Amino acid sequence: MCGVVAVLGRENASKLVIEGLKKLEYRGYDSAGIASIFQGSLQTIKSEGKLIKLIDKLENLSSDKSYFDTSIALGHTRWATHGNISVENAHPLISENKVAVVHNGIIENYLALKEQLIAEGYSFQSKTDTEVLPHLFSKYLKLGNNLLEAGRLVLNEIKGAFAFVAVSTDFPDQLFISRNSSPLAIGLGEDGNFVGSDAHSIDHLTKRIIYLEDGDHGLVETKNIQIFDKNTNKVDRKIINIQAEFGLITKAGYSHFMEKEIFEQPSVIPQTISNYLKEDSKIIIDIDKLGFEKKGSLVICAAGTSYYAAMVGKYWIEQIANIPVIIDLASEFRYRNPSIYGQNSILVISQSGESLDTLMALRHGKTLGLKTNAIVNVEGSTIDREADYSLYTKVGPEVGVASTKSFTSQLSVLFMIALALGKKFNEMNLQEINEKTQYLNMLPTAIARMLEIEEEIKLIANKIKNAKNMIFLGRGLLYPLALEGALKLKEISYIHAEGFAAGEMKHGPIALIEDDVPVIMFLVSDGNEDKSISNLQEAHSRGANTILISDKKCIEKADFAHLKLEIPEFESGFKSLLSPLLMSIPAQLLAYHVAKERGTDVDQPRNLAKSVTVE
Ligand code: M6R
Repeated sequence: MCGVVAVLGRENASKLVIEGLKKLEYRGYDSAGIASIFQGSLQTIKSEGKLIKLIDKLENLSSDKSYFDTSIALGHTRWATHGNISVENAHPLISENKVAVVHNGIIENYLALKEQLIAEGYSFQSKTDTEVLPHLFSKYLKLGNNLLEAGRLVLNEIKGAFAFVAVSTDFPDQLFISRNSSPLAIGLGEDGNFVGSDAHSIDHLTKRIIYLEDGDHGLVETKNIQIFDKNTNKVDRKIINIQAEFGLITKAGYSHFMEKEIFEQPSVIPQTISNYLKEDSKIIIDIDKLGFEKKGSLVICAAGTSYYAAMVGKYWIEQIANIPVIIDLASEFRYRNPSIYGQNSILVISQSGESLDTLMALRHGKTLGLKTNAIVNVEGSTIDREADYSLYTKVGPEVGVASTKSFTSQLSVLFMIALALGKKFNEMNLQEINEKTQYLNMLPTAIARMLEIEEEIKLIANKIKNAKNMIFLGRGLLYPLALEGALKLKEISYIHAEGFAAGEMKHGPIALIEDDVPVIMFLVSDGNEDKSISNLQEAHSRGANTILISDKKCIEKADFAHLKLEIPEFESGFKSLLSPLLMSIPAQLLAYHVAKERGTDVDQPRNLAKSVTVE
């Protein structure tokens, strides 16, 4: 989703901005642009598509020092919301060749503002909501306001969730910044100051970061920064020293980041687990902080893959700890007036820690009086900072848009929460819980063994790569995996895919079955396998191309399936309880290899963003 970078006070500011934009590429975008001020005049250059096109344009101008010999520049990667993907709609948006703005989020009342500005004589070059911002700045600057005053007047007029940076040729040593729900960080340097959508985008310039809070706005100058809260009180926000520069994360020899991230799982999941599981099998999760000083229930909210992790979490927490769990899509929770009767706390799950839907669900939970908890990967993200208690997945940066290692690490944390709650509240005897706790130690090796079936998965991928539709099935703990398998496949291969609970097929979706439609079932022998096998048989009898991903016992029972992928053998209790974690691996590899065969942009699939910062 949109990324913002600005540099002030350093030579070659444009080049430093481009370096920052490169670090935001993974978030997903469809056009890019940069503006700088040279000898009092504004230079803007924009392009559709990937950043490399913008860089090529800039390189063609390398003899024109007006684009480079500058100490103030701001840049943007745009994920289209209002207006198609085009150079005109790319940011920075300009007014009267004096003001430039880069913006992340949505100005919800832009239509009314646009009409008013047109009536006042401003002409619009783009179809974006953003363009009202530079024109409003122009309007207030012309009335004699300085950049800070003009920015405040702009803020009084606009509604929505946003983060933006504005410059004006009248104030060539200043950046106006503002944040309302969308993230924005300031970097403090020795000889300049910086602004970025996240700390990573400016960590090549400084390690000293300030995260703006909601409603904050301010002025950044080369040697000075002023931040004000929404009531225009001057505030000092905490300076955080970020530990290590991630640098430009490499693919380390893999074809795609997604492939690398899939294969990293055996080495990063131990980091997740060891953060909370100590040598004596003790799980260090503060149950009281989670809101469970006494027994009650929990609501979990998330989006996309993180929501499917929440579904698995519900099954585990109810099964292991006998605690009722309500799960909700983050985008629904806030608007449906949920009853929180009997609920102790809300837990949100987010890899990025910046998904706006999830952040809003967390805030809504807070307003309802719930304790707020988060499972996040990005430490220091907005959700991490706003939650009362955060649990970290610790798997390092995830660059591929498709969530892979973040999903398995979220599941690992959820499993530990279920065990910790079980120890406190369930009558289940301690020995049984301790046995299940040992499963965590078996997990990394089990994931590594699951990765060994890649070659067989490639064969299946090759056979189904031209399908127009696919159906994924699972039952119980593997129902969320069917949903996740379908999501993973559709987002990177662009094949239409749906996941269903195996037992639901006969209630409607079975009408979709026609000759050769691939129906993929995730299954482990857990005592209920015969029912699922019957559901697969029902699809098979109607002409589906049935594909069973399962263990030896089920594969023998479902000999009829057209394609069978046998997973390695594991101890039966471990295999059935942790089946969502194990089956994540074939789900991810299948989607990856189908997409690779189809030649799609695996790491940055069309229309998608890694960090979804609009509602
Ligand atoms: O960063 P988050 O976990 O909050 O992101 C939530 C979803 O946008 C994300 O899981 C999305 O569905 C993935 N692209 C799926 O692979």
